[in-house]
Amino acid sequence: MIEDLWYKNAVIYSLDLETFMDVNSDGTGDFGGLARRLDYLHALGVDTLWLAPFQPTPNKDNGYDISDYYGVDPRHGSSGDFVEFMHQAKKRGFKVIIDLVVNHTSNKHPWFQDARSSKDARHRDWYVWSEDKPSDWDEGMVFPGVQKSTWTYDKKAKAYFYHRFYDFQPDLNMDNPEVRAEIRRIIGFWLELGVAGFRVDAVPFILETPAPGKAKPTMNFEYLREMRRFLQWRRGDAVLLGEANVLPEESQKYFGHEGDGIQLMFNFYVNQHAFYALATADTEPLAEALEATKDLFFTAQWAQFLRNHDELDLGRLTEEQRQKVFSRFGPDKNMQLYDRGIRRRLSPMLGNRPQVELAYSLMFSLPGTPVIRYGDEIGMGDDLSLNERDAVRTPMQWSADPQAGFSRGKKLIHPVINEGPYAYTHVNVENQRRDPDSLLNWMTALIRLRKECPEIGWGKWQLLQTGFKEVLCICYCWKGNSLVVLHNFNEKAYEVEIDLKQQPGDKLIDLMNNFEGEADGKGKQHITLDAYGYRWFRTGDLSYQLFGEQQVEPE
Ligand code: NOJ
Repeated sequence: MIEDLWYKNAVIYSLDLETFMDVNSDGTGDFGGLARRLDYLHALGVDTLWLAPFQPTPNKDNGYDISDYYGVDPRHGSSGDFVEFMHQAKKRGFKVIIDLVVNHTSNKHPWFQDARSSKDARHRDWYVWSEDKPSDWDEGMVFPGVQKSTWTYDKKAKAYFYHRFYDFQPDLNMDNPEVRAEIRRIIGFWLELGVAGFRVDAVPFILETPAPGKAKPTMNFEYLREMRRFLQWRRGDAVLLGEANVLPEESQKYFGHEGDGIQLMFNFYVNQHAFYALATADTEPLAEALEATKDLFFTAQWAQFLRNHDELDLGRLTEEQRQKVFSRFGPDKNMQLYDRGIRRRLSPMLGNRPQVELAYSLMFSLPGTPVIRYGDEIGMGDDLSLNERDAVRTPMQWSADPQAGFSRGKKLIHPVINEGPYAYTHVNVENQRRDPDSLLNWMTALIRLRKECPEIGWGKWQLLQTGFKEVLCICYCWKGNSLVVLHNFNEKAYEVEIDLKQQPGDKLIDLMNNFEGEADGKGKQHITLDAYGYRWFRTGDLSYQLFGEQQVEPE
């Protein structure tokens, strides 16, 4: 049954154990804390949790430097605590996705320690080496300005090793079949413990075969298909959600032409153009980005998001577009990172509630599966005094109690935000639960609305002309229902006329207010939108009018 593709109508919540909830008072969040907060997440309405890496790690890159793939870092609890958490999550119907970080290991991983010990070491060929200094040793860095090279000399190994990311994250050699077999073992291990899939870190870099002096490495997409096949043999409904910030024309290769690649990919391209629209009120580039990422095989799906645990990457915009987003959302040098991004949370960037609502309403209405980031549901802020991306990784603000109710520990993993408009004393879950007009309650209603609109995850869609570049209108059709969603990116109100090719008198039912629109004598709808306004409507089947055919759904 096609409905078995559960991810098509899921709402994903991403969190980092470290900063979510600490019950043992050591200053770092843990599985015990997360388990206690499952009822909160259930009430919020999300149904899938994506956990950032929690395996043993020296923790020099927020856990993305793993030193044992088969364990739980003691700071977060034990394997027993993980299984107990999984049990509690399952009881409430949650699916749990975990990070799969296999482009590289930590340099403290025993495989790397062995690999560097001698040329004949058992794991030598698990990594990528060069005897001589590669001519491109300082090219291709992912973190420009902070990371100095991609090839670094290791004295013990007497060779240079390759690292796409920091020098403490040596890349695994994917061309080695033993490495790929080990990755399958890792996948198999966590599937056996009940996870529903993996957020695959750094997918393009996993697939490349780096070689000294070779500017454009070969990409091997068969490795992705191999991973997918294994995943599905082991668990039919498990998914891979890929992190691949690639151009639209490249993305088909990741999904696989017949859906034999990864099922889900973050839509970085639409994300960046959505921020451009938010910054300038011009939705045309966003509309083009949506069109460019449109035609997918029916099992493939975009994951739509606004912010994540990294910088807001604007690298796919033109220089002029990027500068406009910088000047509106990250004007100070200290807000910018890696020459391409902004290290801020959503609320302080947008600065006002109407635009925050607009941004989230948009994100939840975009074709695909929405992913939200812990703390964004209450409008948490950032701490620009912290290092690089840590600015957006401060502890969850649960209450006005000391340390935001996150921990009773003496020293926290990251400080809580305790001053300014985003301090935990003002911005916290407890306050917002009691306030009917809070962002939290608004978000809970939006999540529920999204769950009630499966057309968005499943349906065919089309952008409709509104006559104003500031107003985006998208229409979905699925199983005899249609949905029309409009967003006004400007600070002034509009009345727009849209042509749904209806009959005079045909209705549009507003899903957020008690309101019915009626098509005029020519069958056109007239819709008003406040400044930064958004409206969601349902109507009868428009698939014939919009797509020229009655839709036949795959079974
Ligand atoms: C992407 C992750 O999102 C980021 O946080 C990390 O630093 C790199 N991959 C390296 O694993």
